[in-house]
Amino acid sequence: MRDQVSVLFTEEQIAGRVAELGEEITSAFAGQEICVLGLMKGSLVFMADLIRRIPLDLTVHLVRVTSQREQAAGRVLTEIAFSTPASLEGKDVLLVDDIVDTGITLSYLLGHIHEHAPRSLRVCALVDKPEARKIDLHPDWTAFPVHEPMADRFLVGYGLDWMERFRGLPFIGTIPRPARR
Ligand code: IMP
Ligand code: MG
Repeated sequence: MRDQVSVLFTEEQIAGRVAELGEEITSAFAGQEICVLGLMKGSLVFMADLIRRIPLDLTVHLVRVTSQREQAAGRVLTEIAFSTPASLEGKDVLLVDDIVDTGITLSYLLGHIHEHAPRSLRVCALVDKPEARKIDLHPDWTAFPVHEPMADRFLVGYGLDWMERFRGLPFIGTIPRPARR
């Protein structure tokens, strides 16, 4: 399976971008305590590296969302499947996301978090595929924007999965896109 993966972003490129984002986020939140909320499971590896590049007081929490796409009805049912206990009220929240594709997952999650009245809410995504967007939203920080034709390949590695596989690859690679979700 691994030999079907082509490298898109190397370990070195990722480390460089994570260091840059860490500096930008550190300046943006200077003097504040951050509540980092990682979207499971795809952002786990990214979040683990990123928080070590943010030398501020921070706490770490996790949330998991499930989406069921009813192809026939064209509806997407999204719900929170799990979250670690955290009071977000009055907090400066940094949501760490893996891939923003259509934007449906992120938009649902942002709505859910807003209900908990954080003081501020910003998003850092590992990958943004802006051409696939169905809901108009933009992460505050993106490590890697991916445009056509690469946006049509399926990304795996560095936490990203295809059918739960490939999360442990140290780089971000692509495989031919499986049947469209
Ligand atoms: P959205 O709701 O369409 O924005 O989907 C975002 C979610 O789809 C991400 O959190 C990923 O779990 C998944 N996803 C979208 N594109 C890819 C990909 O290329 N590789 C792995 N997962 C993907
Ligand atoms: Mg996934």
